[in-house]
Amino acid sequence: VTDAKISAGSTPVRNMTVWEIGTLRRPLNVSDGHVFRSWTPAEQAIIDRTPWLFTKYNRRDQVQIEREYIGDFMQLARQTHDETLVGALMCFTASMAFEVVANWLRRKGKSVALIEPAFDNLPDIFRRHDLAMTPLPDVWMEAPAADFITRLEKITADCICLVTPNNPTGVALSEENLTILARFCAERGKLLVLDSCFRAYLPREAVHDQYAVLYESGADFIVIEDTGKTWPTVEIKAPFFCVSRANGLYQDIYDIYTDFLLHVSPVGVGLVHEFVRLSLADDLASIRDVVAKTDGRFTTRCAARSFDRPKSPMRA
Ligand SMILES: Cc1ncc(COP(=O)(O)O)c(C=O)c1O
Repeated sequence: VTDAKISAGSTPVRNMTVWEIGTLRRPLNVSDGHVFRSWTPAEQAIIDRTPWLFTKYNRRDQVQIEREYIGDFMQLARQTHDETLVGALMCFTASMAFEVVANWLRRKGKSVALIEPAFDNLPDIFRRHDLAMTPLPDVWMEAPAADFITRLEKITADCICLVTPNNPTGVALSEENLTILARFCAERGKLLVLDSCFRAYLPREAVHDQYAVLYESGADFIVIEDTGKTWPTVEIKAPFFCVSRANGLYQDIYDIYTDFLLHVSPVGVGLVHEFVRLSLADDLASIRDVVAKTDGRFTTRCAARSFDRPKSPMRA
């Protein structure tokens, strides 16, 4: 798509996001991973109550608002959250978390082994910061443990950055391989960055406690969490990233983060928290059901047009 033009205008399609912007007007749109669909009655009830959030959610309570939200988010995600071991930094988009991380990597002169394929804005951000990059094929994440170790041994980069489950393939890092990888990073002094933005769509039985493994390993790590791919909040999102404290990484990253952000909207956090609470009540079932149904319809229509859609491990 490099030299293509968006049909409606003359903006060159330099990256996927420009392409996605060009599709916004379309009635049928599967070009991005953001959640735009009609609300269920329970979701509609949250939207109807929204004015209340503007009066109740006040930035004087920002710390508490974020703490309670992150606590519930992590419970739903089946992750152990220990504030003594990680600091959580809220941001407006997941990409912003990557931007902060890329700044830190550049200042420290670090190289990156980045998962491949990757949604293009991740390598674009790293490239813009002139970081030396090597590809790490995502299928490695599902390699048998012995193979995985052999492959890791070949990595010379200072930072390993994985998206699990990956976009667009759905390939995910197993608990066993995460344990191996985290130990490897701890022993070699490498930073481990995990993007878990699509965790909600893993089969529930495949979800494992990544943070427990990371705490145990003693590695420096950053995990990026997102809401924009899960709840239909019309781009009001409440992503955050957790940074390990042990070796001073959190303080370093915090210094860069505060160049960008004073605080996110407490109302936005409050709204997303309402959706998280709703999902806690049914363990994400309504979120996953909508996607499963839409996915089923999409697959049927692809088949009707003799278009083979790739298999995804995220589809049961
Ligand atoms: C795996 C992954 N991480 C991060 C992002 C960036 O998300 P955001 O649009 O919130 O910046 C994307 C965007 O699609 C993505 O696919």
